[in-house]
Order: sequence, then C-alpha cells, then structure tokens
Amino acid sequence: MISPVRHRPLARYVGRHLFAHTHCYCTAAAASSVPAGETHIDLSTVGALPPRSTAPRYQATAFPYEELYQHVLDKKKKDQSYRYFRSITRLQDQFPLARCNRTGKKVDVWCSNDYLAMGSHPAVITAMEDALHTYGANSGGSRNIAGHSSLVETLEASIAELHKKPAALYFSSGFAANEAALITLGSQLPDCVIFSDELNHASMIDGIRHSKAKRHVWKHNDLASLEALLALYPIEVPKIIAFESVYSMCGTIAPIAAICDLAERYGAITFMDEAHAIGLYGPRGAGIAEHLDFSAHQSGRLTGRTTMERVDVISGSVSKGLGTMGGYIASSARLIDLVRSVARAFIFTTTQSPAVMAGGRAAIQHQLQHPDGRIALQRNVAAVKRKMAAYDLPVLPNQSHLVPLMIGDAELTRRVTDLLFDEYHIYVQAINSPTVAVNMERVRISPTGAHGAAQQDALVGALVDIWSRLGLRKGSDWQRMGVWDAKDAAVTQLWTDEQLGLTLGPFASAASSLSYPLPDMPAEGHVQGAISSKAPASIP
Ligand SMILES: Cc1ncc(COP(=O)(O)O)c(C=O)c1O
Repeated sequence: MISPVRHRPLARYVGRHLFAHTHCYCTAAAASSVPAGETHIDLSTVGALPPRSTAPRYQATAFPYEELYQHVLDKKKKDQSYRYFRSITRLQDQFPLARCNRTGKKVDVWCSNDYLAMGSHPAVITAMEDALHTYGANSGGSRNIAGHSSLVETLEASIAELHKKPAALYFSSGFAANEAALITLGSQLPDCVIFSDELNHASMIDGIRHSKAKRHVWKHNDLASLEALLALYPIEVPKIIAFESVYSMCGTIAPIAAICDLAERYGAITFMDEAHAIGLYGPRGAGIAEHLDFSAHQSGRLTGRTTMERVDVISGSVSKGLGTMGGYIASSARLIDLVRSVARAFIFTTTQSPAVMAGGRAAIQHQLQHPDGRIALQRNVAAVKRKMAAYDLPVLPNQSHLVPLMIGDAELTRRVTDLLFDEYHIYVQAINSPTVAVNMERVRISPTGAHGAAQQDALVGALVDIWSRLGLRKGSDWQRMGVWDAKDAAVTQLWTDEQLGLTLGPFASAASSLSYPLPDMPAEGHVQGAISSKAPASIP
C-alpha cells in the first residue's frame, strides 16, 4: 500500500502530464497477463539480479519513480499499445524459418526486413568473418578518434556507387542517419522550412523536430497538399521536402518525379528515405528512384537527368535488404562534408564494428551484380497478392513488396497473430498504434524470395480460415467503407511482368529451396483444408 504522502507527487505529475484527473493511479496488480507465446523481457536471462532491498530508496516525499513507470506501462496495456516481443531464433541455413524459443517448434517468418536473406548470404558471412579475424570486433573509436579506416572508406564508396552520387556518409543505423542529416540541414540552412509527408518514419520526424526548423506536414503522397504549403514561401527561402520512396507500413510508393518537379519549381531540396527499397528495386538494387528509369540504368544508356540524380539526398538503411546493420546518406560532396563536420550523432559516436561494415559492403556489391534475389522476391510478392485478392483478403492496395492486411482493431490483430503463430506456425507481427493510427491496425506481411508456392498457399489458407473464424472484414467491406476503391484493389506492381521475366510463360512463383511443410509443422491437410473448404476452388 502506498501512503497518501507518497501518492501526491505522482498524482500531481499524472494530473499535469498524463490525465486530467488525479485518481487514475493503478498498481502493478492491474497489469494484464502476457498473451500466449510472448514474454516480457525476462531479466533472469540477462544476468543475476541483486537481492531486493526492503529499505525505502527515497524519502517519503520524493517522486515515486517506479510507480510512475508502472502507471505508464499499465496505461499502454489498457490502450493496447503495449509492445510484446516474440522470442525466436532465426535459422541461418533454413531462411526464412526460425525456431520458437518457447515451444522449440519451427515457424515460418513472414515479417522479416531481411528481405533478401542477405543476413545469411555466403558473400556477407565470409566478408564478416574475414574482417573479424583481420581487424577484431571493435573499430577503435569515433571517426575522429581512431575509428576511420579503409573499411569505412570503401563502404562509403560502394554506397555512392550504388546511388550514383558523388559522396556518401555511413552511420551505425538508418535512424541515426536520418535524424542527424535532417537536424544538420534544418539547423544550418538559415530560416529553413521543412515539408514532411504525414507518414514519414519516426527517425525523420525526430530529425525535423530537433532541427528546430519551421515545419509543415503534407498529406500522404498528396501533391496538391504539398504544393499549397510550398507556395506559402518565396522561392529564395531554403526548403527541404522530406519523404520516403516506399512507406513500410502501407507499402505505398511516393510520386518521386512529381515531387522533384515541385522542388525545382519552388526552390526546395529533396530528402528521400529509400530504407525499405534498397536491394529490392532497380536493375542494380539502388531503390525506387533507380527503378523509375529501369531500362536506362540497366543498359547504361542514360539520357538527361535520371530520377535518382534529381533527388538531392538519398538516405538508406543497411539493416533491411542489405542484411547487416547501419544507415547512410548519399548526396553532393559538399553536403556530405557538411553533415560529416557538424552532425553530433555522427561525430560523437564509435564507428560501427569492422565486420558489420565489411558485411554491408559485400551485400551492396552483391546486389549491384545479382538481380536474381529481388526478382525472386518480387515474383513471390505478386503471387501472394493475387492469391489474397482471390479470397477477398483485405490487402491495402499498393505497388510495392509489402502486404499490409487490414484488421482495424488492436485486440483482433493480436488474436490473428497469436492464432497464426500457435496454430499455423506462421510468424507475422501485429502493427498497432502509434506505428499506425488507431482503427487502422494491421498485420504487415513481407514475402521473401524463399517463400515458395507451398508456403504461400499455407499462409493464405491460414488467413482464410482465421478471417472466417473471427468474422473479420474482407477487402470488399473496406472498399464499401470508402477506405480504398475497388479499382485500386487490382493487383498492379511496380515491377512489371516483363521486368520479372514473366511475359514468356504462365504466372509462376519463384521456387523455394526448402521442402515444405517441415516435419514439425501442423499437418498439411489442416492448412490446405482451409483453402479448399472456404475459398474458390482454384488459386490463380
Ligand atoms: C523508413 C525507415 N527509415 C529508417 C529506418 C531506420 O533504419 P535502421 O533500422 O537501420 O535504424 C527504418 C526502420 O525501420 C525505416 O522504416
């Protein structure tokens, strides 16, 4: 029992910062139970905890820190935004499978950002092993203090080569790259105004906020909304248009060329995040901007300025399609030198581990030469979307590799992911607020090149079954609600059938090298049965 005296500072804090009243304090007893298959972070696995002291740590009138922490956590549990982690171990030689650490069973991972399995590619593993043995685990310090090496120089040269930019700067995460670059630009350009797409990633939002520049948020991918805001300022005012090439929670693709047109008309520079597109689009894997001029980049016959050239700053992550860790910006030599010289998140941090940098470079070099991984992935994406459309599953329409399945309720989304995990051995993650708006909760599926036809059918069969068991809204229901039009629901992808080499024969999935289902997965009949009993007779 907490004394009224100890209550008071929390009540005051809560009254001021969290709620309008002072009686919303609740104790740990109110904490909801942990859902099946998931654990809170288990401190016993981290190390032995010191014995608990019974003596009070603070004087009676001090702020009740621990109670406040519990209060915030309880509130998150109540509004369904509390985050649960699933403990799985990825199986390097059986991508995309992982082992559930609770049950020991294998699960098929359909939500990884290691889209191209570069995290277990022999070229990456060998480069990392060599670097580890040659240079050791640590880089020696920040880039200013012993942390600058030929490894980081060659990595940055590869990044610049990938995006055909004069220079690049590597950071230890994509988050740090976005935040640092936008803070630098927004604070160094005098009276700068930043125009940010409303669905931008948290790293860009934080960079923009922390730059203290004036900012406007434009409606997602809405050129009229952007132009109306740009037109508020004279051409000589420095402006940055910040956006993503592909938005990871809805899969939508930005109208890049039209945004560049507006930037040129209104005297702005463009800052575009390609984090989820690197390795997955373009003949060389440089992203969506490269893909928009596919044949020019493929043939090397470049006439005029390409879309990639028109974007002033491209930011990216090495942690997704490139399979290791880190992030970067690529741009003009002067802009890169400015960020290198000013950005605190660049200057005051230790350079990435040599092995990670060597792995990142190997992944880029591999992608520049080998389009087969992205072609296999994009073929599977198109197949999954067509199968889902045949069963009216509510895929938020988009032209990218992402498959967001709308559910619209946090509790139901959790039930879907629990059922998939526990009964079908399929792992997808629930996406809820604040990552997406309340009532827009969804599961976000990311097929890989290794998800062959049998795995696709197992996934679609499980979803059809669960949608029917829980009575969830179908695609046509969302269309009736006006969330998207029937015409948008037609499956069209940025990768054309011709680019995927599918024009010569019937539509096919890329083959999986795994024999599937695995022996410790649910009986095939269970999963396949859902397809045959509840859905159209044949899958296109
Ligand atoms: C659009 C976008 N940008 C940047 C990042 C950050 O990249 P990283 O994971 O390398 O920090 C993410 C990560 O989820 C992202 O989705």
